[in-house]
Amino acid sequence: MQRIAVVTGASSGIGEATARALTAGGWHCVLVARREDRLRALSDELGGEVELCDVGDRAAVEALAERVLERHPAIHLLVSNAGMPARGTFLKADLDLVERVMRVNYLGGVWCARALMPGLEASARAGGAHIVNVVSVAGTVSFAPAGAYAASKHAQLAFSRSLAAALRGSGIAVHSVLPGFVETEGFPQKNVLKSRLLRRFVIEPDDVARAILRGIDKGKQEIVVPWFPYRIVGIAQAVAPRLVGRFAGMSDYKSGAV
Ligand SMILES: NC(=O)c1ccc[n+]([C@@H]2O[C@H](COP(=O)([O-])OP(=O)(O)OC[C@H]3O[C@@H](n4cnc5c(N)ncnc54)[C@H](OP(=O)(O)O)[C@@H]3O)[C@@H](O)[C@H]2O)c1
Repeated sequence: MQRIAVVTGASSGIGEATARALTAGGWHCVLVARREDRLRALSDELGGEVELCDVGDRAAVEALAERVLERHPAIHLLVSNAGMPARGTFLKADLDLVERVMRVNYLGGVWCARALMPGLEASARAGGAHIVNVVSVAGTVSFAPAGAYAASKHAQLAFSRSLAAALRGSGIAVHSVLPGFVETEGFPQKNVLKSRLLRRFVIEPDDVARAILRGIDKGKQEIVVPWFPYRIVGIAQAVAPRLVGRFAGMSDYKSGAV
C-alpha cells in the first residue's frame, strides 16, 4: 500500500523540496497551497494530487480535510509547512499582518492537524503516522526585526511540543523542524539580510527536506537545521538572553527590504 503524505505550502521552497524528496522515497503526496499553476506543474512532474487551500481560513481547512479523507481514509504523514514572513518590529508592523501571520503560521497548523486527525489515527492503528511541523529557529529566539513572525513561530513550537506530548503512545509521532535561514521565494535571505556573517549560514530548501526525511526515519522529536550555530543560539536564549538579543539584532534587514 502506498503511503499518503499531505504537504502544505508545497508550491515553493521547503514544501516543494519536501514533496520531491518524499515522492523519490515512494510516498504519494497531496500538494496543498493557494497558487494553482505552481501546484499543477509540480503534480504533473511528481504524480501527486493538487488541493487549493488557504490554511489561514479554518473553514477552508476543514473542507480540504473532508475532500482528502474521502479519497484517502488513512493519512500517514502531515507536513504542516505553509507559512509567510512578517518583517518589521512590533512598533511599526501593520496590525493586519500581525493577525494574519498568526492565522497562517500557527493556527493553520493547528487546524490541519485537528481536521486530518481521523486519517492519521487510521494510519496509527495500522502501524504508525507522523506529523511534521516546519517551525523555525525564530520559534526559540525573539527577533526584533521580525517580531510578529517570531511570535507566530513561538506559538507554533509550543503547539507542536504540546501535541507531541498529547499524542505520546498513540502511534502518531510529532516532529518539530526548526530551520535557520533558508533561501526561498518568500524568504530571499541572501538579498534581505544585512549581516554578512548571517548570510554565510543561509542553506537551501533541499537541506531542510533531507533533514525532515531523516528526522521521520530516526523518530527525532526536534530537528534544528543546520545544528550549528542555531542549536547553540536556542540554548543561549534560555541562559543568556541579553547576549542572544544582540545576536538577534544582527538579523536586521537591509533598508528597503521591509
Ligand atoms: N526560508 C526561511 O528562512 C525559513 C526559516 C525557517 C522556517 N521557515 C518556514 O518554512 C516554511 C516554508 O517557507 P519557505 O521558506 O519554503 O517559503 P516559500 O517558498 O515562500 O513557501 C511558502 C509556502 O507556503 C504557502 N503558503 C503561504 N501562505 C499560505 C496560506 N495562507 N495558505 C496555504 N499556503 C500558504 C506558499 O504557497 P502559496 O503562496 O501558493 O499559497 C508556499 O508554498 C514556513 O512555515 C516558514 O516560516 C522558513
